[in-house]
Amino acid sequence: MIDPKIEDAINGQINQELTAAYSYLAIAAHFEKTNLSGFANWMHQQRLEELDHAMKLFNYLIDRGGEIKLQAVENPHKDFGGPLDVFKLALGMEQNNTKSINELYRLATDLNDYATQSHLKWFIDEQVEEEKSMEDVIAMLELAGDDRSALLVLNQQMGSRQGDPAAVTGE
Ligand SMILES: [Fe+2]
Ligand SMILES: [Fe+2]
Repeated sequence: MIDPKIEDAINGQINQELTAAYSYLAIAAHFEKTNLSGFANWMHQQRLEELDHAMKLFNYLIDRGGEIKLQAVENPHKDFGGPLDVFKLALGMEQNNTKSINELYRLATDLNDYATQSHLKWFIDEQVEEEKSMEDVIAMLELAGDDRSALLVLNQQMGSRQGDPAAVTGE
């Protein structure tokens, strides 16, 4: 039986992943509205990844005999600036999520829950990728600066990001 403290923390992390998915959905809407459909596509792929993360934890908690307790998802930001501001915001969200995963890992370590530690290793590696992908886009946007044509080229590139079609099941 899983420790109730871990059960609560995993439920909290499921909520955090769903909150991230909801925020990326809001950002995708913002990019659609500002005619940057490539950036919107990129954010939709990101949203699907976050749903996949939530489902991985959901399935894990069920496998461990824990109880799923879904919580309300926070309102996403509404006032987004230009793409650079948006990606800086997204990087901050990912950094917070990394902290949250690390705290969960520390709790699992303190409680000698080896299975949860093992499951979380994937998430620790994933967060390195998540932060890097935000930083890469920020670097490209900084290079583009005020050059509108560079932004349009970038928008086209962002439009080619494709996800794993099975990503939303968490398998
Ligand atoms: Fe995530
Ligand atoms: Fe993420």
